[in-house]
Amino acid sequence: MVRAYIVSTGMAVPDRVLTNHDLEKIVDTSDAWIRERTGMAERHVSDENTAASDLALPASRDALRAAGISPDDLDAILVATISGDYVFPATACVLQHKLGASHAMAFDLSAACTGYIYGLSVAQAYIESGRYKNILLVGVDMLTKVVDWTDRNTCVLFGDGAGATVIQPRERGGVLDTVLGSDGSAAELLYQPCGGTRVPISHEAIDRKKHFLYMNGREIYKYAVREMVQSCHEVLKRCGKTIEDVRLIIPHQANNRILEAVAQRLGVSMDRLFINIEKYANTSAATVPIALHEALQQGRLHEGDLALLVSFGGGLTWGASLVQF
Ligand code: ACO
Repeated sequence: MVRAYIVSTGMAVPDRVLTNHDLEKIVDTSDAWIRERTGMAERHVSDENTAASDLALPASRDALRAAGISPDDLDAILVATISGDYVFPATACVLQHKLGASHAMAFDLSAACTGYIYGLSVAQAYIESGRYKNILLVGVDMLTKVVDWTDRNTCVLFGDGAGATVIQPRERGGVLDTVLGSDGSAAELLYQPCGGTRVPISHEAIDRKKHFLYMNGREIYKYAVREMVQSCHEVLKRCGKTIEDVRLIIPHQANNRILEAVAQRLGVSMDRLFINIEKYANTSAATVPIALHEALQQGRLHEGDLALLVSFGGGLTWGASLVQF
């Protein structure tokens, strides 16, 4: 059977680093609070001239180079984002043009922090059906552009970044299976109220700060642990594997305490999870592909190893993929 294989990865973050101590000068917070409650120490923040496609581009070029293919070889470009260059058109189309990928179709998908896993399942379906052979899948977000920098509840939590992967058919390894879920009844636990058709942009909406990201972190926390653990169990069961078969868990990086709770419920030690939240904070759809890139660079995964990718985010959405390298 032909499977979707992640042949290469790339990543990019903005140069500018904002530490917890820098945040102490912006809002009423402390390095100790942020570290203890989240595990974050610093995050990368883009400047006013940098949009999502500007980060997606270098990450994509790195992944294409590592795969040994040119933009012209691409059949499809999928970009998972909730903070693209524009409301429309898709950032994937902007990226297609910047890369010069003249034969690729391109579209965005919106599943917040679970965007990369949702995108992986789409790539998996295209590859398994034989429809496409060379897919560029990018997770990119710049939530620092939509947070309220006077709100300590949210502005300390996010960073900007992009992670890119090239996905091709292989007869050994690859994505063994993916499970996905959603619950739109809790959509307003994490959302950007203004800018869509529910609350179009207006002076009044902006005066009421409706253009900023809103999050009920405490409520999301409860869902996150439960659904991430459940997704892991479900995908392992579908593949006839146990958690002991998994070399490395690559989770969404929203909060270290969520990851500790997930590890505890899965019955694994923390060193079985790849964690880089300290350096980048929550880069939304980019966390999983950036973590995967760094795990591969650090030699944490070898040929034949199983990696369990798992995420949770706005929507609400969640999902897990079991991937063999
Ligand atoms: N510095 C200092 N104090 C703060 C800060 C801060 N940056 N932020 C909040 N506080 C205060 C609050 O005001 C509150 O004070 P009060 O008790 O006087 O009211 C107190 O700290 C506790 O607030 P909580 O919200 O209960 O803090 P909690 O321990 O739950 O941590 C956090 C908050 C980090 C947001 C946590 O709930 C969390 O990580 N939730 C999950 C978020 C998540 O998973 N998001 C994923 C999706 S992201 C996506 O899809 C794009």
